[in-house]
Amino acid sequence: MKMWIFAVLAALAVGASAQNCPSTCETMKWGTCDGPPCSCYLLVDNGVKQPINCTALVPKCFLMKAEMYRARKGMNTRSIAGKPDETAIVDNDGIYDPECESDGKFKAKQCNGTDVCWCVNSAGVRRTDKGDQNLKCEKLVETHWVRLQLTHKQGPATVDKDKLKTAISTELNKRYQMNPSLVKEIQYDPDARMIVVDVNKGKGDRSYDLSKMAYYMEKDVKILPLFNDQSRRFTPSVDGQTLEMENIVVYYVDEEAPTITMKHLTGGIIAVIVVVVLAVVAGLLAVFFVQKRQRKYKKTQQREMEQM
Ligand SMILES: *[C@@H]1O[C@H](CO)[C@@H](O)[C@H](O)[C@H]1NC(C)=O
Ligand SMILES: *[C@@H]1O[C@H](CO)[C@@H](O)[C@H](O)[C@H]1NC(C)=O
Repeated sequence: MKMWIFAVLAALAVGASAQNCPSTCETMKWGTCDGPPCSCYLLVDNGVKQPINCTALVPKCFLMKAEMYRARKGMNTRSIAGKPDETAIVDNDGIYDPECESDGKFKAKQCNGTDVCWCVNSAGVRRTDKGDQNLKCEKLVETHWVRLQLTHKQGPATVDKDKLKTAISTELNKRYQMNPSLVKEIQYDPDARMIVVDVNKGKGDRSYDLSKMAYYMEKDVKILPLFNDQSRRFTPSVDGQTLEMENIVVYYVDEEAPTITMKHLTGGIIAVIVVVVLAVVAGLLAVFFVQKRQRKYKKTQQREMEQM
């Protein structure tokens, strides 16, 4: 009799847990959940299931792996590319297939499946020059400060700077589960519609991973939300007015200065330099021809005057 009751209870429990298993993953649109026992995962590498927690932001390292998986499979990913500190770095390298620790942290040394390796910070951003496989990365250096340089779209009314700080802290908390007290400073230029947000947890603090917040936010602003709900984005609200963002640049400041050298100019910078040089040359030529024509004009005028 007892056995029988246990069996019924067990069956009920299995049924209940199957029902409780959501079909979608709240914090990751590419996540899948199934069971029992209910578990949610992302597909990475060659179809390996990486378990994730769909009630918390997913570590950036897992997100990048999932993005690389989808890119390899030809699935839709849509991916992209005033410093807060002398040592701040921007992620110019873009996406690679990272090696993650089991808890989702980046391994300090990354090689993208090739012989070329480099060291990254806790946001997975390269902080050394590239080297070969013998490169040593002693430890993962923590990014303790990120500067979010946002541009918002034109709204109907001007925005009050003091209220902006509260609005942004509140939205960062609601959307990215971030402690609002980490927002240390906000600068605002209404003419440029630029908001500069400094999120700084101080050196030594490991309680919140700034890279998750920055990555989710970058996607929210530049591409599409990583959340399952595609209808909302990062939209702080000031005095009932919702601010929509149109661009973001993220600067990363690490607890130790990066050792990256500037000797390799990136293609983008070289292109800009070439364009500027061409523009200057074109300008000089234009001035030269105008002057020459004016001189000719003056001469003919003089000649006509003399004839008269
Ligand atoms: C998932 O994340 C939530 C929110 O951060 C946390 O409360 C919960 O303990 C996590 N679950 C697991 C299994 O780690
Ligand atoms: C990593 O490798 C992929 C393809 O193998 C490539 O598309 C990508 O640009 C590489 N990323 C970096 C940062 O080297």
